[in-house]
Amino acid sequence: MKKPLHPATIAAHAAGALDPQSGGVVPALQPSTTFLRDESYALVRPDNIYSRDNSDNMRQAEAVIRALENAQDTLLFPSGMAAIAAVFRALPNRASAIVQSGIYWGTTAWVRDFCARREITLIEAPAADLIPTCQAHPADLVLIETPSNPWLLTVDIAAVKQATKGILLVDGTAATPVLTRALDHGADIVMHSATKAINGHSDVLAGVLSTAAPERDVWQAIKADRKMAGAILGPFEAWLLTRAMRTLPLRVERMSQNALALAQHLMAHDAVEDVFYPGLPHHQGHDIALRQMQGGFGSLLSVLVKGGRADALRVTGKLELFLRATSLGGVESLVEHRHTIEPHTGIPENLIRVSTGIEHIDDLIADWDQALA
Ligand SMILES: Cc1ncc(COP(=O)(O)O)c(C=O)c1O
Repeated sequence: MKKPLHPATIAAHAAGALDPQSGGVVPALQPSTTFLRDESYALVRPDNIYSRDNSDNMRQAEAVIRALENAQDTLLFPSGMAAIAAVFRALPNRASAIVQSGIYWGTTAWVRDFCARREITLIEAPAADLIPTCQAHPADLVLIETPSNPWLLTVDIAAVKQATKGILLVDGTAATPVLTRALDHGADIVMHSATKAINGHSDVLAGVLSTAAPERDVWQAIKADRKMAGAILGPFEAWLLTRAMRTLPLRVERMSQNALALAQHLMAHDAVEDVFYPGLPHHQGHDIALRQMQGGFGSLLSVLVKGGRADALRVTGKLELFLRATSLGGVESLVEHRHTIEPHTGIPENLIRVSTGIEHIDDLIADWDQALA
């Protein structure tokens, strides 16, 4: 028996994707939307009919993520939100859902609107109350996000799975499949915004769902809906994703090292009130993170600077290497004043969300030191 390959090896080889036609060691980009039939009207390649169904480039990218997640099936979507929406759309009208509160605001906003329109009972529960809420309400679907964006709270996937009879959907965007394989912890479906670290170069919008049980009705419904309704990733984006994922474990390792070192430095800084990061021992959920995350705690952290809104904006304004832009998981470090984006959700005005890239840590620390001075 061959030993299973490590994630770094799977990723570097793009799960074995090559170009048999040219002999190229990288797969070709095939943008065709439609595919030939022969004289007797049989498809030249029975798996290629029309690119709304599938494409070689999408299958190649899915194969890499499937292997990294230890999944049985993986489906790519044109954005992270399209992937989350695909799962909710598989629920019948008047179903019930429990959703962790204080997660990515875009998810909360869309889920509230969708559930109201489809008469789905929606219960929002903070990370700390998820288990009793799941025990008290046997919902059809439970959505958790761990670590959460931007509070960085962690949720014990296995414990929530035990407490629910419904489908457990885990948004693992901030963890990436490199640091947490959510399916191994009991998730029924794991989702990532591949726009973030999976692609990692801030140039592809994509989302992905994976499961260990593709035979289940819910997965078949999601798969059929993607094909029929056309929420498909284009070949070029899929090709870029396959290319980017070759370095995913390497990037995640470096970004996590940078995030931990920066979090520790800022925690000890006089101008900083608190740092939310699962890798810091004082942070709520550090114990869960130690059990559930392997090889690092991710690239996302939130910093509370001493003072208020004006102080936070002064610091973000002075940062030079940390680009002021939304999103996370790219090779370049970013900062965001979340209160400006979502003023109504209780985000502290002195909170700066930080996504660390792969730059040299000394430069990142020096940039924060001059901005906080
Ligand atoms: C945790 C999380 N989930 C989902 C999404 C949505 O992903 P996308 O922007 O690819 O639609 C985001 C985007 O910021 C996110 O941070």
